[in-house]
Amino acid sequence: MKTKVTVVGAGNVGATVAQGIALKELADVVLVDIVEGVPQGKSLDMNETAPVETYDALLRGTNTYDGTENSDIVVITAGLPRKPGMSRDDLLWKNEEIVGGVTAEVVKRSPDCILVIVSNPLDAMCEVARRVSGFPRERVIGMAGVLDSARMRYFIAAELNVSVESTHAFVLGGHGDTMVPLPRYSTVAGIPIPELIPQERIDAIVERTRNGGAEIVNLLKTSAWYAPGASTVEMVEAILKDKRKILPCAAYLTGEYGLNDLYVGVPVKLGKNGIEQIIEITLTPDEDAALKKSAAAVKELFDKLKTGAAATV
Ligand SMILES: NC(=O)c1ccc[n+]([C@@H]2O[C@H](COP(=O)([O-])OP(=O)(O)OC[C@H]3O[C@@H](n4cnc5c(N)ncnc54)[C@H](O)[C@@H]3O)[C@@H](O)[C@H]2O)c1
Repeated sequence: MKTKVTVVGAGNVGATVAQGIALKELADVVLVDIVEGVPQGKSLDMNETAPVETYDALLRGTNTYDGTENSDIVVITAGLPRKPGMSRDDLLWKNEEIVGGVTAEVVKRSPDCILVIVSNPLDAMCEVARRVSGFPRERVIGMAGVLDSARMRYFIAAELNVSVESTHAFVLGGHGDTMVPLPRYSTVAGIPIPELIPQERIDAIVERTRNGGAEIVNLLKTSAWYAPGASTVEMVEAILKDKRKILPCAAYLTGEYGLNDLYVGVPVKLGKNGIEQIIEITLTPDEDAALKKSAAAVKELFDKLKTGAAATV
């Protein structure tokens, strides 16, 4: 049986994820959306791209969940994106309803799948998917840190006029304005950036990383999709190829970093079982305080969720 990934939400991010999976021939893709014609049209367009790009992955668009059965991974991008002036948190109620409904549908048909959540507010939507699916934390993972780190890597590369490939960046915490970029663990060819970039420029990079999403929303009047799509594909690839790549992802913590029962962005080892390991790194008191502040912001959202703790499927 061929590997199958279902992508729910055929909008900007969902379609970019589907295209990235096809381009890398990671799996066949089922693209699901409520808008009639859109997942079908985008899938057909991408199938017609295949001869030119030379991939043999097959895409299928649908408005129901038939055909999503036994997916290896389900990526959830369904929901409303941000508009200018909106915080990710403003999306909470509406997207909770959407993500909860989608999760119930997909896990009924793919009880062994790994859920990769993209919809915002990210950490809260991960929790909705975890509660509704009843899945163990290894199989409900959020995409945010890969994107936030990619943004920081680009800013570091631009600052030093070096290849992005030589950069590494570490961003912890919730996917919001309180995220915690860690310059000490961000490197160029293994050299921590504090040795290469003056502090005031690092501060500017950290600030721009924190506001990276809003910067694009202000330009596009909706949220980004190329980098979010590519970041999601990197996670999908790590899982499907059992790469055991260490990536910053939103993971449900049960004591790690002194945090409990919360989704927070931390470095995890991603492999065929989803989260194979949560990596704990030592934080300075300032970094720890920033992470706790970020976790408190996530907790505030969790407290507003209506989805109960009991699994509904
Ligand atoms: N985690 C991140 O870092 C990150 C980055 C970018 C975007 N996002 C989030 O991803 C989500 C999608 O963003 P986008 O730019 O692709 O938005 P979009 O509006 O382009 O696409 C969303 C799609 O979801 C569909 N949809 C809505 N309700 C649905 C349902 N019940 N079932 C199936 N499909 C449904 C819509 O019809 C639409 O096509 C947003 O919540 C956005 O905030 C997260």
